[in-house]
Amino acid sequence: MKIARFSRLGFILAAAGSAVGLGNIWKFPYITGEYGGGAFVLVYLFTVLLIGFSIMIAEMFIGYMGRKDGVTSFEELAPKNKNLWKLGGFQGLAGLFIMIFYSVVIGWIFNYIVSSLIYLPSSVKEAELTFTTMLHSDFLTQLFYHSVAFLWITYVLTKGIKSGIERLNFYLMPTLILILLGMFIYATTLDSFSKAVEFMFSPDWSKINSEAFVTAVGHAFFTLSLGMGAIMTYSASMEKNSNLVKNAFWVVFLDTTIAIVAGLMLFTFLYQYGSGPAKGPGLVFISLPSAFYEMGILGNFFAVIFFIALAFAGLTSSVSLVEPMVQYFIDRFNWSRLRASVSMGLFFYLFGIVAILSNIDGYEELLTWGDKNFFDWVDYITAAIMLPFGGLIMAIFVGFVIEKQRVEAVLKPQLGFAFEAWYFSLRYITPVAMFIVMLNLMGVV
Ligand code: PHE
Repeated sequence: MKIARFSRLGFILAAAGSAVGLGNIWKFPYITGEYGGGAFVLVYLFTVLLIGFSIMIAEMFIGYMGRKDGVTSFEELAPKNKNLWKLGGFQGLAGLFIMIFYSVVIGWIFNYIVSSLIYLPSSVKEAELTFTTMLHSDFLTQLFYHSVAFLWITYVLTKGIKSGIERLNFYLMPTLILILLGMFIYATTLDSFSKAVEFMFSPDWSKINSEAFVTAVGHAFFTLSLGMGAIMTYSASMEKNSNLVKNAFWVVFLDTTIAIVAGLMLFTFLYQYGSGPAKGPGLVFISLPSAFYEMGILGNFFAVIFFIALAFAGLTSSVSLVEPMVQYFIDRFNWSRLRASVSMGLFFYLFGIVAILSNIDGYEELLTWGDKNFFDWVDYITAAIMLPFGGLIMAIFVGFVIEKQRVEAVLKPQLGFAFEAWYFSLRYITPVAMFIVMLNLMGVV
């Protein structure tokens, strides 16, 4: 059987499609708001360059060399203790878990695309009411749009690498980039643009504490899709003789640029028409719609295309979150792609319903443990613990376990004199940073 491989551009678009997601457009602006702007952005940029970029190359390397699902790739590349190392591949499960809430959020976005056509809230208060009513009492709307997301994502996965994933990204990514660029250019013409630039780039170091630091590092992982095997699984279908370093550079570059562009644009709108850099997850669902309202009919147009762009970002990331486990069942259990995609889809679909219920009045108490409900627990455990842990495993695996000559043979020609610096970062800087992040997240330091 001929193995389906991404085209050169197809790979970059798909990997960038994985990286550019809700993390860039929804999460990055609101955490930047929460932690006070400039200094936080600098820590994030620094982490992306120093740690994110290194692990991106390492993760691509494992997939590219292994050529199979994550579990098999780890198993084949480990010189010994194969049964232990293959567990590294089960990080793919984190993607399925992330999908439990990711698909629900994409559902909210679908709902906002439709409703913004005719309605925008006239004040932040009203916007808040609209959002919380949906969240806490409108089970059916959430279920409906979550179902649409599930069907779309699963359908694309059944079509495979070429006519499913590559095609989806081929259309959605350029559209997403055009929409954001268009809105960004409009934002640069507004007075408040300079305020947004100042907010994002003039660092106030007094705002940085260990929590902000850890959040920035954790977010660098989440936004680059690292530590769970999405990039690794895609890299297994990379063309032979690809330049991993160049590919990693493009993914990191696109992901970071889009986050910065989205942030600048949103903050400009919020300064110009709204309440300033609002804090919290409600930023795009609460503060932004009421800012759009102030723009009049142009606001409706912007709201609709903005939520379309956000949905596209989410969908292209979703397929990469599920694909590792789909690939696993195909490679290891000989399942058909159809069977694997539908089974994995049903998994996140059904648990997603539980996630919706965990926000609904009356069910919330049943589905809350400690200070978080089911939805928040899944978010926390995956993004805060599983991804950094996965990144740590990959750094150690490529840095210490795989024979150095093997790594050198592929990457030295591509990295040139920077090879040793990269290898050092992978072996020492990354593990130490990841370890601190994990301890902090678990409340130890
Ligand atoms: N990078 C995606 C985002 O920013 C999320 C993601 C994480 C996707 C891990 C794949 C793997 O939204």
